Amino acid sequence: MSILDKHKVIEKNASLLLVGSLLVVSIGGIVEIAPLFYLQNTIEKVEGMRPYSPLELAGRDIYLREGCYLCHSQMIRPFRDEVERYGHYSLAAESMYDHPFQWGSKRTGPDLARVGDRYSNEWHVQHLSSPRDVVPESIMPRYAFLKDTPLKITDISRDLTVNSQVGVPYTQDMIVNAKADLAAQADPNADTTGLLARYPKAKVSDFDGDPTKLTEMDALVAYLQMLGTLVDFTKYDDATGYR
Ligand code: HEC
Repeated sequence: MSILDKHKVIEKNASLLLVGSLLVVSIGGIVEIAPLFYLQNTIEKVEGMRPYSPLELAGRDIYLREGCYLCHSQMIRPFRDEVERYGHYSLAAESMYDHPFQWGSKRTGPDLARVGDRYSNEWHVQHLSSPRDVVPESIMPRYAFLKDTPLKITDISRDLTVNSQVGVPYTQDMIVNAKADLAAQADPNADTTGLLARYPKAKVSDFDGDPTKLTEMDALVAYLQMLGTLVDFTKYDDATGYR
């Protein structure tokens, strides 16, 4: 009986074929999954990543609420055309504090993973208020109301607490100071020593250009200006991680 004849036995018996298939699929599955149980972490550590500051986190909430992710991805793929257009490809660690992640599945507009520092705050405010004033062919909706909507900051500590429950390393110090840090980041005259110690590289500015009130526009622009700016890529090496 050749090996092919033996195989006929399985092919002619549906139950045997089913059991055999399950066996093969399980072995394949275990081989793929088991190593993950022995890894401390599947995300390569990079320098510079930190949890979002309270103002950035509030801005991120607005980004989610407005569905910006339906038109914008935040994941630069390691292809030449993308890297030349947007900058270094995204690292897993860069979205490790995102719950839920914002990789997206559709690019009606450009990828935003590294939009931080690309434009001025004034540009963002103008663009979000009236996209066609700055990019005539734009099909992006207007979000002018964000500039008139006061930012509700009553429960920002809870926002940090919830994130810490799903693994973002917010410390007690960060949670206790969340409300003050949020206000300080949007006020160029505030004492920001504590804020910058807790959130290195946090940009402090009156983001929406209106010092009289703290608006949703302040938070959203603070979030956009941080995107992709935390990791210092002059120190990062593609092959080895760090030089
Ligand atoms: C209907 C799809 C759509 C939605 C929803 C949308 N955008 Fe856009 N966005 C675009 C398009 C198209 C462009 C490119 C043209 C332009 O710059 O306006 C763009 C451009 C941008 C840019 C400039 C990016 C660059 O590199 O030039 C930013 C920043 C941006 N959008 C932010 C947002 C934010 C924040 C939201 C949610 C409040 C949002 N967008 C919602 C379609 C969208």
